[in-house]
Amino acid sequence: MLTGRSPSPRSSDRVRPDVAVVGAGPIGLAIGWRCAARGLRVEVHDPASGSGASAVAAGMLSPVAEAYFGERQLTDLLLASAARWPAFAAELTATTGVEIGYRTEGTLMVGLTGDDLAEARRLWAYQRGLGLPVTPLRPSELRDREPALAPRVRGGALAPTDHQVDPRLLVPALRTAAQRAGAVLVPRTVRRLSDVDARLTVVAAGCGTAALTGLPVRPVKGQILRLRAPDGAAPGFRHVIRGYADGEPVYLVPRPDGEVVLGATVEERSDTTVTAGAVQRLLRAGVDLLPELAEYDLVEAVAGLRPGTPDNAPILGPLPGRPDVLAATGHHRHGIVLTPITADLIADLVLGGVPDPLLAPLRADRFDGAALGGPEPTMEGDRWS
Ligand code: GLY
Repeated sequence: MLTGRSPSPRSSDRVRPDVAVVGAGPIGLAIGWRCAARGLRVEVHDPASGSGASAVAAGMLSPVAEAYFGERQLTDLLLASAARWPAFAAELTATTGVEIGYRTEGTLMVGLTGDDLAEARRLWAYQRGLGLPVTPLRPSELRDREPALAPRVRGGALAPTDHQVDPRLLVPALRTAAQRAGAVLVPRTVRRLSDVDARLTVVAAGCGTAALTGLPVRPVKGQILRLRAPDGAAPGFRHVIRGYADGEPVYLVPRPDGEVVLGATVEERSDTTVTAGAVQRLLRAGVDLLPELAEYDLVEAVAGLRPGTPDNAPILGPLPGRPDVLAATGHHRHGIVLTPITADLIADLVLGGVPDPLLAPLRADRFDGAALGGPEPTMEGDRWS
């Protein structure tokens, strides 16, 4: 789309950037980093970088444990992005000197009761049917791996290739990387697309994308808790643990500093109120799986808004009829795992590369035109239509 960097200024006047990214969460920052590193003049606009969904996110990189029925294409995208994570994390830390909490212990998937285990086994059978690495464990093997699990946990399976990262370390690292590559972070609110003046605009504004573009991005509320092991100790378990506890889906993400993230609700709501009922359900499920959590400090209860789309897959590509505006949004429950691939695919698009085939099912015009606020796509003048 862009054929080169804009000419250098002859005076100290502001130079029109090549790319304005709206939104400085992980997606927007990573796009800014990748575009700036490839020689483009980049601005990233956000009044409060990292204050959206990523501030609440657990940071699971779980394409296997999160491979759900009916989401085959999305699973392929998650797997492709997760495969980029080791190099992405290493490059980010090498560039910035910032550790981002990248951990590779894998995910233990468990069922508390017989019914929970039956439900979990249906999913594991589906995941194994896709050829994904899911290893069923006998109860004794489960407890050898995580002795802190409640004795009444009926069974489990290991997804050894699922990893995790700490989003609250990732965002500052990406900010530093983007700035070192030459991107300028602009702390301002963009209320309409005409507020930015650049050769190309990338909208990576999460739930805010709907108001800016008319794309069908909806908020999906998630309530999540943070607990801390007593006396500065590390949590008594190493794997990400996820599963069902008396029908309640739950995950627990341990960090080396003693933090445990316990999540999360999935609610079709747009408020960020924390409710007593959600806290009760999450704590009950968490403590039922790992009784030691009852002794932890409860340090945070917070809600965030995931950007969902009608098919829950992201929207990556030009707005219909607006080849000068790219969307990079709608990552729903997968924003952190999809950060590397989103940044690479969007940077390639910005630089006019041949669109990756992975982008075809993620186009903005895949939804009913009635759901879009923008003009209808045309064949003329928009090679993406
Ligand atoms: N990916 C975790 C969540 O959305 O809760």
